[in-house]
Amino acid sequence: MARTVPSLPPLSPHSHSKLSCNRHSLTQYSSTNIKEQGSQPLSQETVKELIKQSQEAKKHAYCRYSKFRVGAALLTNENRVFTGCNVENACYNLGICAERTAIAKAVSEGYITFKAIAIASDVSEKFITPCGGCRQFMREFGSDWDVYLSKPDGSCLKMTVDELLPVSFGPEDLYMEKVFDIDNKY
Ligand code: THU
Repeated sequence: MARTVPSLPPLSPHSHSKLSCNRHSLTQYSSTNIKEQGSQPLSQETVKELIKQSQEAKKHAYCRYSKFRVGAALLTNENRVFTGCNVENACYNLGICAERTAIAKAVSEGYITFKAIAIASDVSEKFITPCGGCRQFMREFGSDWDVYLSKPDGSCLKMTVDELLPVSFGPEDLYMEKVFDIDNKY
């Protein structure tokens, strides 16, 4: 059955909010599932768990060129978690970021609606922020879902995809009325 890209809700202003994430052991998770009630907002437990899983994923970072480890943990609407790390290549420009790895893993298994993604790195001075390419890659699957930028101590900053990539270009734009409708012969 053909799957469709989710339609976007209207843009809404969100304020950046810092979450305090205590580090105590969590019980309600497995490696691929998180127990979460309803939709949003995520419980603090879930956020902590997602950050923890992104930190675990970071351990697999294949970053022999940059030596910059990144991990990501993506929570689907079905409460499945897909993790990812950056995977670099001797042909430098072929490297893939942790966020895109996680999203590609989820999409390739049939999951295309997301609640949140947590990102972890070894940088302690600032919350790790996704590159422009990853912001666009996230935006493909909607603008109104959450990105948890974290530090190694587990503290995090929540932003939406829309806040990270405002006035974005997405799948809906392709179907907007055009002055010229050019036949696609290819
Ligand atoms: N990187 C990520 O995986 N995610 C980010 O959010 C920022 C950058 C990776 C790409 C590259 O492997 C390394 O970090 C240095 O840029």
